[in-house]
Amino acid sequence: MREFLPKNIVVTGGAGFIGSNFVHWMVDNQPDVHVTVLDALTYAGNRESLAGISDDRMSFVRGDICDVDLVDRLFSDVDAVVHFAAESHNDNSIADPEPFLRTNVRGTFVLLEAARKHGVRFHHISTDEVYGDLALDDPSRFTEETPYRPSSPYSSTKASSDLLVRAWHRTYGVEATISNCSNNYGPRQHIEKFIPRQITNILCGIRPKLYGDGLNVRDWIHTEDHSSAVWAILTRGRIGETYLIGADGERSNVDVLHAILKGMGRSTDDFDWVRDRPGHDRRYAIDASKLRAELGWEPVHTDFTKGLASTIEWYKENGGWWRGSKDATEAKYAKQEQRGNQ
Ligand code: NAD
Ligand code: DAU
Repeated sequence: MREFLPKNIVVTGGAGFIGSNFVHWMVDNQPDVHVTVLDALTYAGNRESLAGISDDRMSFVRGDICDVDLVDRLFSDVDAVVHFAAESHNDNSIADPEPFLRTNVRGTFVLLEAARKHGVRFHHISTDEVYGDLALDDPSRFTEETPYRPSSPYSSTKASSDLLVRAWHRTYGVEATISNCSNNYGPRQHIEKFIPRQITNILCGIRPKLYGDGLNVRDWIHTEDHSSAVWAILTRGRIGETYLIGADGERSNVDVLHAILKGMGRSTDDFDWVRDRPGHDRRYAIDASKLRAELGWEPVHTDFTKGLASTIEWYKENGGWWRGSKDATEAKYAKQEQRGNQ
């Protein structure tokens, strides 16, 4: 198989959780590539997440993926885009869906149009949530052939963006690939998300919060394994194809919370049960056979307890990165509780 080896890539959303981890992974593992990060620095973006990266490896552009002129300018000079930028949090999409339509759907459209005009290779980052959910007692897992059945405003906008990418490939010949990954964990994840919310709650003396009956299952993957999979697909994946990314990490929320509590020396019943998320997906599970067989990708962070311990350490050691947003994040959740999530 002929490899595609880009020299200059744009990473949208590179100041967010997975995007910044991808940029660090690129800087550490791909010395010949220059990265231009395009990020609007919304509440979820943090310039500090890219601290320590030298100017000769990365340029940072603060801007909106919906800005047609800016995107056109940036794309005139690069080989590829890896598109992470999105509104990414389900609870926020339930409270206020509009920004999700704008960034996830219109933003992807703007990028695709620029990729078409300038002949830029396009890798689209998406989610397993486009496939809806599975029952707890269903032995099956999502594959690339599973029909789309998104449940939330967030996942329906991600599904829409995937369909745009497929159409721009088929109709206009944009050289695109798509990956749909399961739940990521690791350093630099916004503290609104499940694992860092509970870790930082404990560090702040707040009781962790578990939705519903806690039996919902997520398929956890360390974000560094996501990065290596994206690189494998960008450089060796077949154009027009979708690849599912997952590392066989199915765990119920209550089990994950117990692991966090134990890892932080707390009693396993030291948390609050809270109102469930409306439309809460029951279970996600990824069959990543295509990625493994076709591209030879394998995850390396397969020990969840170890990965969780190092994530807990990261939040302990990097209070400066998250403490400033803790009050606002918890105030948002308190409002959500009052409204009953509607
Ligand atoms: P995040 O919310 O941590 O980061 C999103 C980034 O995008 C932020 O830096 C933000 O400033 C930027 N951004 C938002 N709107 C923008 C706009 N209009 N223009 C430019 N930049 C903008 O998200 P994440 O968890 O890192 O997710 C990244 C991508 O991966 C998303 O596309 C998401 O759907 C996908 N994904 C996430 C997971 C997960 O577990 N978090 C799993 C699978 C796929
Ligand atoms: O599956 C991939 C998706 O994973 C990504 O596409 C999304 O961008 C990402 O946010 C994530 O979505 P989830 O909704 O699964 O992640 P979240 O961290 O919000 O919640 C994980 C599970 O934990 C979910 O079942 C809801 C539950 N939860 C969440 C929070 C914030 C709680 O029980 N308590 C909480 O406080």
